[in-house]
Amino acid sequence: MINIPKGTKDVLPSEIYQWHHVEKIARETAETYAFKEIRTPVFEHTELFRRGVGDTTDIVNKEMYTFLDKGNRSVTLRPEGTAGVARAFLENGLANGAMPFKAYYLISAFRYERPQAGRLREFHQFGAELYGAAGASADAEIISLADRFLKNLGLKKVGLQINSIGCKTCRAQYQQALKEYFRPHLSKMCADCNARFEKNPLRMIDCKEENCKNFTANAPRMIDYLCEDCRAHFEEVKTLLGGAGIPFTVNPSIVRGLDYYSRTVFEFTSEAAGAQGTVLGGGRYDTLLEQMGEKPVPAVGFAAGMERILMVMAAENAPMPENRGVTCYLAGMDRASREKAFLLACELRSEGVSCEVDLMDRSVKAQFKYADKTKARFVAVIGERELAEQTAEVKDMKNSSSERVNFRALAQYCKEKI
Ligand code: HAM
Repeated sequence: MINIPKGTKDVLPSEIYQWHHVEKIARETAETYAFKEIRTPVFEHTELFRRGVGDTTDIVNKEMYTFLDKGNRSVTLRPEGTAGVARAFLENGLANGAMPFKAYYLISAFRYERPQAGRLREFHQFGAELYGAAGASADAEIISLADRFLKNLGLKKVGLQINSIGCKTCRAQYQQALKEYFRPHLSKMCADCNARFEKNPLRMIDCKEENCKNFTANAPRMIDYLCEDCRAHFEEVKTLLGGAGIPFTVNPSIVRGLDYYSRTVFEFTSEAAGAQGTVLGGGRYDTLLEQMGEKPVPAVGFAAGMERILMVMAAENAPMPENRGVTCYLAGMDRASREKAFLLACELRSEGVSCEVDLMDRSVKAQFKYADKTKARFVAVIGERELAEQTAEVKDMKNSSSERVNFRALAQYCKEKI
């Protein structure tokens, strides 16, 4: 037998209802904030991610699924959704439409990471992006959408941490300060940190190596280097979140793992989300669209990991709808009744009632067992007598009560009782 590739997972028919529930809440929540769905390709030109996500990030350097297609073009399975949405926005001239542009997505994404709890090589994201608005209210709106999504799922123990990583101008000063701080320690830090020192010292703050953490703990903090405009922007984001009753803590060590961010960055974390703990992350990225297109377009967004959301929901025992079976199982006792059951099932389905009939030539007892196992709500039994009277003996599997229902009234009965 050929096994599933490492770091990927099957979602089985018996568990898909959980995904449908989270996806439904994601869509409904996004739409209450006037975000519309966008669908972009699973693969893009490699250059898009190299430029978009940034070539000092682990994602681009170590984790991308990149290959040459048969036309010798380098393409990459998307490691995240933001770069593709930005490309689609520019390529389709959406800046000429109604602004701000607001879009959400439910996608699969691919990163060649070391798999562990909550970390996969193929995973899924619910994300949202908002373009065109530079003010703090757009940051607050995006964070509020993320917060509402988590609340609508019934999650109570997911905490919000925010930070500001400033703009190009104030970050340049900060990077300088970081270099001065790290320079004497470089020989004791990992190879990645040494490379980051040259290319993007901010990334060193994020290093997961235990030894490097000893040095990053006392490093200068971006929040102390913010310019006047960035500071005012961050203060307003905090005021708006406070006003909206969204609790948060300021965590100066959040820098995020992607290069495109500026000003506000945020993460929603939970102890139940695996080793990393981040369920949802995002922030402002005012320079990405300019790098990819011509004109600057301010932008802010987030993405949540669906697998981590489901892990946290299970740990918190969050409400989950029942895994329901069909509304009505039609059990036939003999050949003629089975034929009738088949015809009745076709009629019921045409009226929108989900139902099932026996396809395995089973006894009535075995049909009942199957209906019970697959969680059918009603079982309508048809035998010789029922055929003669044109009625079915309908058992409600929830409370075991039975009623005789005329064949013609069966669809209506099921619709009313369910
Ligand atoms: P990210 O922090 O790389 O941000 O990913 C967002 C979320 O995706 C994470 O918080 C996590 O829940 C989930 N995730 C990431 N990698 C994995 C993995 N290997 N296995 C399982 N889940 C994972 C972004 O992707 C940005 N594009 C978010 C964004 C949108 N920023 C602005 N707009």
